[in-house]
Amino acid sequence: MDKLQITGGRPLEGEVRISGAKNASLPILAGAMLAEGPVTISNVPHLQDVTTMIGLLGRMGVSVTINERMGVEVDAGGVTECFAPYDMVKTMRASILVLGPLLARFGKADVSLPGGCAIGARPVNIHVAGLQAMGADIRIENGYIKARAERLKGVRLVLDTVTVTGTENLMMAATLADGETVIENAAREPEVVDLANFLIAMGAKIQGAGTDRIVIQGVKSLHGCEYTVLPDRIEAGTYLVAGAITGGIVRVKSACPSHLDAVLLKLQAAGATVGQGDDWIEVDMRGRRPLAIDVRTAPYPAFPTDMQAQFAALNCVADGVGTIIETVFENRFMHLLEMRRMGAEIRLEGNTAIIKGVSRLTAAPVMATDLRASASLVLAGLVAEGRTEIERIYHIDRGYESIEEKFASLGAQIRRVPN
Ligand code: UD1
Repeated sequence: MDKLQITGGRPLEGEVRISGAKNASLPILAGAMLAEGPVTISNVPHLQDVTTMIGLLGRMGVSVTINERMGVEVDAGGVTECFAPYDMVKTMRASILVLGPLLARFGKADVSLPGGCAIGARPVNIHVAGLQAMGADIRIENGYIKARAERLKGVRLVLDTVTVTGTENLMMAATLADGETVIENAAREPEVVDLANFLIAMGAKIQGAGTDRIVIQGVKSLHGCEYTVLPDRIEAGTYLVAGAITGGIVRVKSACPSHLDAVLLKLQAAGATVGQGDDWIEVDMRGRRPLAIDVRTAPYPAFPTDMQAQFAALNCVADGVGTIIETVFENRFMHLLEMRRMGAEIRLEGNTAIIKGVSRLTAAPVMATDLRASASLVLAGLVAEGRTEIERIYHIDRGYESIEEKFASLGAQIRRVPN
């Protein structure tokens, strides 16, 4: 298994191009199964999670062709089985996104329950209850969700908790349902809006995506289309924090600034000068030490849980004391235990971390535990004295395209080595 070696101490400077969003690509790839004709999706990032989703679709008989220039072509005309096995779902929870499309289009889905993961229990009860309310017959047997339906029926759904993939699964299922579905307390994330725009391009009738009330008029069938995935706001945010934490100047291009409002406000509060244009953002922290900031995670448009670990790293070397409150997932502080081993001063009280910045972290061997935790360890390594080695970096490859090339292009001393 590879590891990353990072020698800290250099301010990062330069420009980096942001890839297509992982969390939009996954539901869009699954949603492509709803169409009767071929779908071409561009700006899909080269990531392990995308490869897993393509593998899952292929195993069900969906034809997936990857064309470097044009994108990914998906044709679900030849689906042979509506089955997502445990060995795939356990490596990627987002596999659950095939449940809604399979049931709506083929009337049948056997999808493994995801089980626990490193950042908490993460149940899928809201996905299941929503589909049941739409008339699906669902049994949980031998660790599998076994769902059957003739044609789903439109209903009014009030989601218990704001859930991103739950909203996406139910919105996809509703596109082919009989009548109108209303999803109340829907997730408002930009990736939900991107999926809605993709479904609309296939002929779906959806209003209100991006608000907490999405209304879907079911149609009889959907057709093929061409679609370009939106930029990854979490990848963009991660490189911007890298600029700030190292006291450098980093510009991200091919990004969508309005999706990062909450993150940019925190970077400004940390003392960075933030500039932006239509599709770029620049963070300038040259000659300054970041100031400690307080962060509370919550569903979009509030501060994203997927940026929590990166700002925790920033607080580790900031001037002052900063508090991080995680409200979306329990147990999402594993990275902090690793950062402590690098000399960070962190006190944990339930879902709150109180971090007192130190002037310098020191390198240590550390272990990645989940996707965003790994990114935060890279950031910590960039400001640590000495050479940090990060193990289990397969977590990083799930969500960051060419991470060492991109960081190296900004002047970081980083390399991937076999273990
Ligand atoms: C998605 C993102 C992930 C991000 C998260 C929160 C994808 C592929 N992943 O994950 O990167 O960190 O949103 O922004 O888009 N919950 C329930 N019951 C359910 C579903 C969720 O109780 O049926 C709870 C979860 O345990 C969690 C909260 O709702 O506490 C939010 O989770 P959710 O939005 O569903 O996260 P994901 O969609 O899995």
